[in-house]
Amino acid sequence: MNTQPLTLNHIYLGNCCEVLATLPAQSVDLIFADPPYNLQLQNELWRPNQTKVAGVDAEWDQFADFKAYDTFTRAWLTACHRVLKDTGTLWVIGSYHNIYRVGMVLQDLGYWILNDIVWIKTNPMPNFKGTRFTNAHETLLWSVKSREQQKYTFNYEVMKHLNDEKQMRSDWDLWELPICSGGERLKSNGQKAHPTQKPEALLYRVILASSNPGDIVLDPFFGTGTTGAVAQKLKRHWIGIEKDSLYHDFALERISKIQPALLDDEFYGRLKTKRNAPRLPFAALLESGLLQSGESLYFKKQREQKALILADGFLRTADEKTGSIHQIGAYLGQMPTCNGWEHWYYEDEAGNLQVIDTLRERLRREREA
Ligand SMILES: C[S@@+](CC[C@H](N)C(=O)[O-])C[C@H]1O[C@@H](n2cnc3c(N)ncnc32)[C@H](O)[C@@H]1O
Repeated sequence: MNTQPLTLNHIYLGNCCEVLATLPAQSVDLIFADPPYNLQLQNELWRPNQTKVAGVDAEWDQFADFKAYDTFTRAWLTACHRVLKDTGTLWVIGSYHNIYRVGMVLQDLGYWILNDIVWIKTNPMPNFKGTRFTNAHETLLWSVKSREQQKYTFNYEVMKHLNDEKQMRSDWDLWELPICSGGERLKSNGQKAHPTQKPEALLYRVILASSNPGDIVLDPFFGTGTTGAVAQKLKRHWIGIEKDSLYHDFALERISKIQPALLDDEFYGRLKTKRNAPRLPFAALLESGLLQSGESLYFKKQREQKALILADGFLRTADEKTGSIHQIGAYLGQMPTCNGWEHWYYEDEAGNLQVIDTLRERLRREREA
């Protein structure tokens, strides 16, 4: 099939497999998919107070059997694989009804799972009959396109800031935010506009963690457009695909009301950190004259453990060992690996030892100015 250029910030009305086939290969940075769960509800569910539970009994959630569901899953995940950039990542959310099947298909297609995230719901629907545990979480699988793919966006520092400066874990309670309710829930004639509208807080974390401002985020099961709404707020481009025209219209109206504030990218999650700073080889310090060949560097601030700087940026020890700042650091420190930037010191004009990372920072600042 002939592909068309991407239309950004747009909802395609139609079946996602058919629409995905028309989009260019390797064109989007992030995919978030909230597919039908195949809930297999057989009977109506009633609360003890005789009110009916609004379950997901829509036609779009119906499949003849597991085989039909697997065929559908394989089709849309294959179509996503083609459209996703090699450096992109894909998220799928589901419950115990479908997530194990989705996980198997992901792996069969070559995707490599990076994490499974548990979204813990603070106000889950009780198990009214008392016949099993309350089902209080959903699972998100986060994958790259192949096991070999090492390069992808993960805003580690941003997630850490979001978690009070502690490494973000894979169990998310979203600050005890309830499942989508209150003002956020779209209504039509007093009823929920969509049975499975996701909370914006969930998409906020997903998008902030795994994309950057200006990236393209695609959602093949757009529903009420939660992914697009959050992407718009966070200054990402978005593409939605939805086969139901009513949901399409709800989503369009919802997103049209959102104007992203036009602030600097840093406001939207592109924090400048050591991890994502432009790479600078050690030799750049020689080229820029901040260090000289023939000068000594001192390991771990100890004057007796030193090495000479060679013109190509390698170091040489007194026992004639030559290698990068990292290799020679590991050798002297008897460690399997060593980040040389943090362990080697130079002598400043006042005769004090300073870590060489300060020179790298200085050079980066000068180059940015
Ligand atoms: C679980 S809901 C997604 C809800 C969405 N995350 C939200 O926050 O509103 C799945 C959506 O996918 C749509 N859908 C189901 N099968 C589809 C298909 N083959 N192509 C496109 N949309 C589909 C349904 O109409 C439904 O709105």
